[in-house]
Amino acid sequence: MNTYIRNYSKNELIEDTGRISWTSPSNIALIKYWGKYGHQLPCNTSISFTLNESKTTMDFSWSSKDTPSDEIVLDFYFENKKNQLFEDKIRAFLEKNRELFPMLKFLNLEIESINSFPHSAGIASSASSMSALALGLCSIENQAFDLDIPETDLIQKATYVARLASGSASRSVFPEIASWGENSLTSIKSSDELAAPVEGVHEVFKTYRDSIVIVDGGEKAVSSRAGHALMEAHPYREQRFKRANELVETLYNILKSGDTKSFCDLVETEALELHGLMMNSSPSFILMRPNTLAVIEKIREFRKESGLDLCFTLDAGPNVHILYPQSIEEEVQTFLSSEIKPLAQNGLIIHDRVGQGPERFL
Ligand code: DP6
Repeated sequence: MNTYIRNYSKNELIEDTGRISWTSPSNIALIKYWGKYGHQLPCNTSISFTLNESKTTMDFSWSSKDTPSDEIVLDFYFENKKNQLFEDKIRAFLEKNRELFPMLKFLNLEIESINSFPHSAGIASSASSMSALALGLCSIENQAFDLDIPETDLIQKATYVARLASGSASRSVFPEIASWGENSLTSIKSSDELAAPVEGVHEVFKTYRDSIVIVDGGEKAVSSRAGHALMEAHPYREQRFKRANELVETLYNILKSGDTKSFCDLVETEALELHGLMMNSSPSFILMRPNTLAVIEKIREFRKESGLDLCFTLDAGPNVHILYPQSIEEEVQTFLSSEIKPLAQNGLIIHDRVGQGPERFL
C-alpha cells in the first residue's frame, strides 16, 4: 500500500471552492541525475543547488463537481493563455497517477502558470513547474478535504509526486541544497523515491551565486526522456553510476568542509562527464556550442589569473552556469560584463543564487 495515498470521500469535502498559489524554483545539479529505471527512479544519487530567481508561480482554483466522475476536469493557462499542449501533458500525468489523488473524482481544477524566466532562456522549467504542480495538488487535497496532513508529510508527498512528473523536480521542493537517490552516507537522507535536504553544509555554499550564461536559448536538442534512455545501453553505464555515487560522497565532504577550490574541480569534472556520456552514447550528441567552450576557457583563465574560486556546470544543453560564493560577487560581475557577456546570445546572463525553496502565497 502506497503511504502517500489518503482515502477520503466527497462527504469530507469542507471547501467546495477555493484558491491557493505556490511559487517553486528551478535547481541546478552539481552531481547529475542521468539514467533512470522502473517508475521514475534514478540510477545514481544527485545533488543540486535550489535556485531563487528562476521559478514558476502556479495559481490553482478548484470547485466541486456536480457529480463525482473519473473524468479529469482541468483547464490550464500558461503565461495568461490557454495552453492545450501543457494541459494535455498534465492531464496524462494525472491520469497515470490518479490513485495518488482521489480528489480528482470530486473536483474541477483550473491552473494558471507563469515562469519568472523568459521562455527562450533555455532554463529547465520542468523542475520548477512540476514541483509547483505537486505542491499545489498536495495542498488542495489537504485543505479542501481537511486532511490535517502535517507539513513534513505534505512536503514528502510533494517530492514523491514531483519526482513522478520530472525526476529533477523532486529536489526543488527543498531549500538550499538537496539530494535525490539512495546512498550509503548517513547524512544523505534521500531515497530513490524521495528527495531530501542535504544537512550540515558549510555556510559559504549557501551564499553561492549562479550566473546562467545563455549561449543558445533554443529548444533542447535532446529531451530529458531521450537523454536518460541513452544510458540504458551506454558502454560506461555501470562505471558511471558507481562513480556518480562516489562523487556524491566526495562532494558531501567538500560541502561540509567549505573547500571552494575542491568544489570547483569536482563540479567541473562532473559537468564535463555528463557531456562526455552524451558524446559517446549511441546515437551521440554534442550539446555544447562553440561559445560554450569559449565561456569555459574564459572561466578557467580568469580563475588561474585571479585565484578566485568560480567554476562552471552544465545542464543537458549549451548554456553555462557559473557558480561562485557571494564574497567574490563584485569581481565576478566585472569579469562577466567584460569577458562573458559578448559570448552570450543577445548578451543574456541570468543572475540567480541559492534560495530558500518553494513558498505558498494563498
Ligand atoms: C541533466 O529531471 O528533466 O538536468 O525525469 O525525464 O523529467 P525527467 O528528467 P529531468 O532530467 C534532468 C537531467 C539533468 C540533471 C539533473 O538535473 O540532475
